Amino acid sequence: MQAKSIEPLIYDFSRVIVPDDAPAIVRQAGLSRADLKWLAPRLIAARQELLDNLALFESGGPVPPEKTPLDAAFFDLPERLLDEDKDVFQQIKATADRLAGQVDRVVVLGIGGSYMGARALFEACCHPYHNELSREDRKGRPRIYFEGNNVDNDSISGLLDLLGTDDDWAIIVISKSGGTLETAAAFRIFLDALRRACKGDAEKLRQRVVPVTGEKGRLRDLAEALGCPDIFPIHDGVGGRFSVLSAVGLLPAAVMGLDVDRLLAGAAAMNERFRTAPPSENPALDYVGVSRLMETRRGATIRVLSTWGKRLEAFGLWYDQLLAESLGKNGLGATPLTVVNTRDLHSRGQQHQEGRRDKLITNLIVQHPDRPPVALERAKLDQDKLNELAGKTYPEIMAAAIAGTNRAYAEDHRPTTDIRLERLDESTLGQLFQMLMVATVLEGRLVGINPYGQPGVEAYKRHMNEFLRK
Ligand code: PA5
Repeated sequence: MQAKSIEPLIYDFSRVIVPDDAPAIVRQAGLSRADLKWLAPRLIAARQELLDNLALFESGGPVPPEKTPLDAAFFDLPERLLDEDKDVFQQIKATADRLAGQVDRVVVLGIGGSYMGARALFEACCHPYHNELSREDRKGRPRIYFEGNNVDNDSISGLLDLLGTDDDWAIIVISKSGGTLETAAAFRIFLDALRRACKGDAEKLRQRVVPVTGEKGRLRDLAEALGCPDIFPIHDGVGGRFSVLSAVGLLPAAVMGLDVDRLLAGAAAMNERFRTAPPSENPALDYVGVSRLMETRRGATIRVLSTWGKRLEAFGLWYDQLLAESLGKNGLGATPLTVVNTRDLHSRGQQHQEGRRDKLITNLIVQHPDRPPVALERAKLDQDKLNELAGKTYPEIMAAAIAGTNRAYAEDHRPTTDIRLERLDESTLGQLFQMLMVATVLEGRLVGINPYGQPGVEAYKRHMNEFLRK
C-alpha cells in the first residue's frame, strides 16, 4: 500500500512584513525584511545549538549546569519510534487494541504535560460527540474520560457515578515523576472503584490498569506491586510538556483509534524541514523569528493563538502550557493566550481590536472540514433575513469571518499571521505539535532561558503539602 503523502503546514507571516516606504504608523506595527535578515544568523545558531544539545544528551556526556535539566530527547522521538524503537511503538498499539477489545470506557489520569496532549488529540481528531456514540459508530473504540487533572470533588464523584459498578472500564494513569498529588489521589480512588468492580479478580484488575511513568518513582513501585502486564516508560530526557509524541500521548491516541503512525510521520516531516530549510521557508524558525521580533521591537508580549474552530481549543491549551512553563522564567517569557473563534470575537475581540498594542495574533486555520459542508437553506419564514445567504456553507461563513477579522485588524495596524493546515488530522497535528515544541526550545536558546524544567511550580506544591500534612 502506498504511504499517504504529508500535506505541509504553512506559516504565513507576509502580513507583518511592511515595506520600507510605508507610512510610519504602518512600519511601527510590523517588521521589515531587514529585521528578519538581522535575526536569521542567530536563528541558525540556535538551531545548531538545539541539534548539538541532542547529540550531547545522547552521548551521555556531562551537561553544563546552565543547561541542566537537558530534556532534549523529545526531538527525535518520532523517528526513533518509527525505526529503532518500533517494538515499543508496536507494544503501545497492541496494548491500545487490547484495551479497546476488553472495555467500553477508558479513564485517562494525568495533569499538565501528562494530560494536555492526549486531550488535544481527542478534541481535534475524534468525533465531537465521541462518548455519546454507539460502540459501532465509535468503530469499537472505548469512550474516553480525563481525570486526575484537578482536585474537583464533584467532577471526580460524577465520573465515579457514571462508571457505576460495571467492570467494563480501564485506567491509563500517566505521571512521569509518579508522585504528582492530583494524579496519585485520583489513581487511588479509581483503582479502589475498579477493584470493587472486578470483585476480587486480580488478573482482570491488572489487565485493566496501564501505567505510563518514569523509570523510578511511587507510581512505578505501585504498578509493579499490582503486577500490571504493560507499563510504559517515559524516558529521562523527555520532559512532561514535550512528551505528547511518547506513550504519554500515543497510548491514549491509539485507544481512541487515531492513526498514530501518521501522527509520528507528520512530526518527522516537520523535523526534516526544521533541520534543512533556510529561514523564510522554515515554519519553526520563522515563527520564533517573527514572535521574538514582535516582542522585542514592537512590545507584543502577549501571543494570541487564535484558533478558528471548536476542535482546536484543547490544542491551544496544550500550547499555552508549553510556552508558559518553558519560557516563563527569570522575569521573562511572552504570555500565551488561546482564543476560539468565532466564539471569542464576542468576548475578547473588542480588546484585540482596540485594546493595548501588546499582542501578536497567530491564526490557526484549518482549510477543509472533515465532514460535508452544512449549508443555509432558503426558508418560508425570512424574518431573520437569512434568505439572502441561502446556499452559503459553514466553511464559507468561517472563511468570511477569518478574512473579515484579519482585515479589521489590519485597518487598525494590528499584526496577524497564519498557521494553515490543509485539514485537521493526525498528520497535520503531528507537524504542529513538533513545530511548536521545537520553536519553544529554539526561543529559549535564543534568549538564554533553559526551556526545560519548571522550578517555579514546586513552590505551590510545597505549600499545599504543608497545609495538607500539618
Ligand atoms: O511539563 C511538565 O513537566 C509538567 O507540566 C508535568 O507534566 C506535570 O507537572 C505532571 O507531572 P508528572 O507527569 O510527573 O505527574
